[in-house]
Formats: sequence, structure tokens, C-alpha cells
Amino acid sequence: SDLSNFIAGLPKAELHLHIEGTLEPELLFKLAQRNQIPLKYQSVDELKQAYRFSNLQDFLNIYYEGANVLREEQDFYDLTWAYLLKCREQHVVHTEIFFDPQTHTSRGILFATVINGINHALQDAHDKLGISSRLIMCFLRHLDEASAFQALEQALDYKDLIVGVGLDSSEKGNPPSKFERVFAKAREEGFLTVAHAGEEGPVEYVREAVDLLKVFRIDHGNASINDEQLAVELVRRQIPLTVCPLSNLALKVVPDLENHPLKKLLDRGLLVTVNSDDPAYFGGYINENYLAIAEALSLSKADLCLLAKNSFRGSLLTAKEQEKHL
Ligand code: ADE
Ligand code: ZN
Repeated sequence: SDLSNFIAGLPKAELHLHIEGTLEPELLFKLAQRNQIPLKYQSVDELKQAYRFSNLQDFLNIYYEGANVLREEQDFYDLTWAYLLKCREQHVVHTEIFFDPQTHTSRGILFATVINGINHALQDAHDKLGISSRLIMCFLRHLDEASAFQALEQALDYKDLIVGVGLDSSEKGNPPSKFERVFAKAREEGFLTVAHAGEEGPVEYVREAVDLLKVFRIDHGNASINDEQLAVELVRRQIPLTVCPLSNLALKVVPDLENHPLKKLLDRGLLVTVNSDDPAYFGGYINENYLAIAEALSLSKADLCLLAKNSFRGSLLTAKEQEKHL
């Protein structure tokens, strides 16, 4: 359609993307075979049938199970490269990628195996596809502070490859305050900070992410609409929100996209961006996310241009690098 062609033609940055969430069922099966890992599912179709979620935790259980097939450096390379080919296809020219080291180190996979595989693919994408990228390491918030400190310690050897730290996994009951000291240490060591907040959790968690974790961006941040004073501050400081429409729909954060707060947030002047979160699990990469939310909320082409521009403004690219894309 005209709208999908328009969206496809926009140069975009992606700012909220979990690399483990790009593991397509076909690659999952291929890696299970290659690594001789038994699966609960007989076929790709049967696996896809399991991708029906009632909430965030439902999804996380399946997502961590899927990550089990990732064992060798080559697996992390193949995973990342497949995503980067999607970026080329969808006109994503810059991507800021999350990875969850604790998901892998807890299974005996070395931190080095994970980061080297991802990084080699990012290097190749820069050299062969002209796609720029940054890497952000997330702490799993359902695990304890000590485990997060351990992950941070391991990241110190890779400061040249990792620009920032984030916070993901089960939000409810795991407030940002649980990781205040870890994030303070991370900032001392020179890492930027981001955090998932206000996805399933309350607006108070968004406030904590800003005040206690000193985040540069809020991942999701849907609940921000519920606190007028916070919204004013996010506008004034132009703290970006990395919104993920198809994720919110799949995890029932919103009942339907017609009731998604994106347009309200955008019209209030927040620096809103559109992202795919875990595209292999939620039924769409970045262009499908733009199209779905555009149709549901009757976004104009001007709105879509603003969202694409915001994706660069909200990125970690320097002002000069952003200019090339604006
Ligand atoms: N890990 C991967 N995707 C996530 C999401 N949407 N929320 C929290 N943790 C996640
Ligand atoms: Zn996420």
C-alpha cells in the first residue's frame, strides 16, 4: 500500500531491540539441531503455536527457553547477522541493540562467546551494509543485585564495545530502586544508562528510572501518560521513550492498538520512537510496527516523519552524525 511504501522509504533508527528476541523459529530449530539440543516442539509450526502470551511473564518464559539453543560464538553471529539483514531490508540505518548476558552465563556460556559473536556481526554490518550500531547490556531485574554486579564486572573488559547498561525482564515487583547501586557503579565506569519502565509496571517505576538510575532513555514508558508532572519533565528534558506497539499488543499491555497511548504522548511533545522489541516473537519488525500503529491511530505522514526523525534524535549518535539522517 501507499502507507507501507512510505514507511519502508523512511530511513530509521531502532532503539529498543533485544537480540535474543530476533531468534526466528526457523533459526531456533536449525541451531537446536546443530548443537544437539532437544526441543519440546516437533516442528516450527508447533513452536509458533506456543507464541500466544497473556502477559510479559508468559513471554519471558518462552523467550528464555528459546535462548537455550545459543551456545557457540557462531550462533550469536548468525543470530545478529540475520537481524542486520532485516535492518537493510527495512531501511534501518542505525540500531542500538540490547543483549542479556546473564541468560547465557547462567548456562555456562562465556561472556566472551556472547559478545564476540554479536560484535563480529555488527562489525560486518558496518563494513558490508553501512549500518551503524551500539551495544547495550541489560541486567535481568528478576535476578538479584549481586548477579547484576557480576555482569557489570565482566563488562568492564569490553568498555570499547558496550556503550551502556539497561534493565529488562519481569518488571512488576522489581523496581529500578533494586538496582540503584549497580547503576551508580556503571555510571562511574562511564556507561550510559537506560531502563525498561512503565511497560507493565506503574508510573512510579518511570520516576525511579529517571531519578535513581539517571537514565538517558526510558524503554516503553507507556505509563508516563498517568503522571502529568512526570510527563512535563520528560518533555522539558526530551528524555526519549522507546515505544513498542506490537510488543504491547502481544503482551496485553494494551487491549488493542486503538487504545495505545503513543499518539497522546507524541502530541504532548514527548520524544517518542517506534521499535520492535522482540520481533521474532511479536509478529513484526520495525516497518510492521510503524504500519500497525499508523493504521490504528490514523497517524499522518507528518507524524510518521516525526517518529523517524525522533529515532535519530533519541539515539546515541552525536549531533553531527544525527544530522546526516535528519
Ligand atoms: N526482555 C525482552 N523483551 C522484554 C520486554 N518487552 N520487557 C521486559 N523484558 C524484556
Ligand atoms: Zn524490551
